[in-house]
Amino acid sequence: MTTVTWLGHASLAIESSSYHILIDPFISGNPAAPVKEEDLQADFILVSHGHGDHVGDTVSIAKRTNALVISNFEIANWLGNQGVRTHPQHIGGGFKHPFGYLKLTQALHGSALPDGSYGGNPAGFLLTTLEGIKLYFACDTGLFGDMRLIGEEGIDLAVLPIGDNFTMGPDDALRAVKLIQPKHVIPIHYNTWDLIAQDVQHWKKRVEEETSAQVHVLSPGQSLQLD
Ligand code: NI
Ligand code: MN
Repeated sequence: MTTVTWLGHASLAIESSSYHILIDPFISGNPAAPVKEEDLQADFILVSHGHGDHVGDTVSIAKRTNALVISNFEIANWLGNQGVRTHPQHIGGGFKHPFGYLKLTQALHGSALPDGSYGGNPAGFLLTTLEGIKLYFACDTGLFGDMRLIGEEGIDLAVLPIGDNFTMGPDDALRAVKLIQPKHVIPIHYNTWDLIAQDVQHWKKRVEEETSAQVHVLSPGQSLQLD
């Protein structure tokens, strides 16, 4: 069984085959965070790009938990220089980790690190769990047509940004669902601040009318279980 918990904004906690995996753990500065950074468990941390609302509390959580941080080569170097254990990958490259096979996918976005360092290209994540469940985390991105190629893998769950302004908004995120054709969708990266406020129930209605995907609107702290 795989459990996906939304920690508000773009932060997620995955539990799969007893491994604890955090994605973009932005907790201490996140007004929507339902937990305290010091209460999170982590065996692995995935960082999609260099922006502060994604790198977040990665360094302090990794040092406390001794989690292995997986990110692109540039961000892995930056984190490694701060004493964090890292595994670098890059876009198009997959690796068999203890929790499953993780591939970095392209994302259309920026990636400068909080201190201005070059953070390489931003990424999304395609995770095949040990049980064969396929999870696609688009992370911060605009719409791109090659989401269709990612969809060809047979996606069980797509986690998509819908907030607009910095990422796909509701209209493009609906087009993304049509390209990816996932069974389940979780919308994220909205309502953290007024700038990315969206009517998520209206979006769920549109997606479920126009596609066969099931949209799971989570409150921060709520989970979806997949088995
Ligand atoms: Ni960003
Ligand atoms: Mn962001």
